[in-house]
Amino acid sequence: MRMTDLLQKKRDGGVLTGEEIRWMIEGYTKGEIPDYQMSAMCMAIYFRGMDRDETYALTMAMLDSGDKIDLSSISGVKADKHSTGGVGDKTSLLLCPMVAACGVKMAKLSGRGLGHTGGTIDKLESFPGFSVEMSEEAFIRQVNEVGFAIAGQTAELCPADKKLYALRDVTATVASLPLIVSSILCKKLAVGADVIVLDVKCGSGAFMHTEEDAFALARALVDVGRWAGRKVVAVVTDMDEPLGATVGNAIEVREALATLRGEYRGELMELCLVLGTQILRESGVAPDDETAKKMLEHAVESGAALEKFAAFVKAQGGDPAAVYDPDKLPLAPVRKDVLAEAAGYVKGIQAEDVGLVSMRLGGGRASKEDTIDLGVGVALYKKVGQPVAAGEKLGTVFAETEAAAEEAAKQLRACYEIVSEKVVRAPFVKGVVK
Ligand code: URA
Repeated sequence: MRMTDLLQKKRDGGVLTGEEIRWMIEGYTKGEIPDYQMSAMCMAIYFRGMDRDETYALTMAMLDSGDKIDLSSISGVKADKHSTGGVGDKTSLLLCPMVAACGVKMAKLSGRGLGHTGGTIDKLESFPGFSVEMSEEAFIRQVNEVGFAIAGQTAELCPADKKLYALRDVTATVASLPLIVSSILCKKLAVGADVIVLDVKCGSGAFMHTEEDAFALARALVDVGRWAGRKVVAVVTDMDEPLGATVGNAIEVREALATLRGEYRGELMELCLVLGTQILRESGVAPDDETAKKMLEHAVESGAALEKFAAFVKAQGGDPAAVYDPDKLPLAPVRKDVLAEAAGYVKGIQAEDVGLVSMRLGGGRASKEDTIDLGVGVALYKKVGQPVAAGEKLGTVFAETEAAAEEAAKQLRACYEIVSEKVVRAPFVKGVVK
């Protein structure tokens, strides 16, 4: 086979065979196919697309390029969750203990934050002593004993994706549906869960800006994931404004804990209930959506989910006392409130820009090597659709210095769009794709 022939075929709108795709991915991973040819292929795929058979073949070839985690020694159904990325997304912190308290094991590998998006692992490191580094054996033991574990990645999963994603990033070919589907799914398939629930974000703070694109991505992810033999469900949700009431690290953990204690009942809990419902139903522990939702609500109301969370923090070396006393978590000393200049209604909150405010305060990384400040961040008191009075608090920034707080408050103010007419908020959950 010759790469130039495959390039010509895809350039002219042809369909690559499974054998051709596997040959290409193997060659690229080994360094036998150079970046310049693979760049041209990514661009050809970007313009010509791939059908489902090609997308499936690409996913499986990338999956087979590296290690896989064998979860077969974990008893019962194993579930995993993935979000296509967002600002203020602390869902895993609630969903894992809620689902585990209902009897379904969650085995999750997570990443660190980069740019405007945060990472679950960084947030969890707000617990003094917490570690995400564990061997595969320890990971499996903890899932069996506690019901869930969240670890950083140690095994070499999908090296083809690592190489290809870096190439797409610098060749303007990230936003290609078959390339996104194969990239997300190969990593999820490598972890080996039976049930995979995907939170596909839609809006200004997401990859997919329109509902049409988000649903197309959701459909393709579910189709290819099911062909690969897993129970995959996707939920399309709003990312036009940050998720929930906080953006940062420890501050997001505080919100997650308060929500698990039942103190808030906003879109964050709504999202956890929808995602958890899919997991419990697909796992077979609940016969239908209504029963699943009731089980999850009971896990929160009874305190079982919070207890699970404390057991998880302890198992990974963190201080479980901080679960019950969040004041033990870091919080930056300087606070500055952001006030509404005039009365009106919140029309929009630029999610990506709020993520950047937190990043510039030190809560995120501009480049992979940066270290982060776990105590800084942003609290948002007003969300889209809500009325505000002149002089009312829209949010607060938490910073290390007066100057940083001053600058961040100015930037946060600019993230808000306030209008005089009433604003009707679009539904947060746009739909479920099975
Ligand atoms: N997330 C991934 O892992 N890959 C993509 O291509 C897009 C989002």
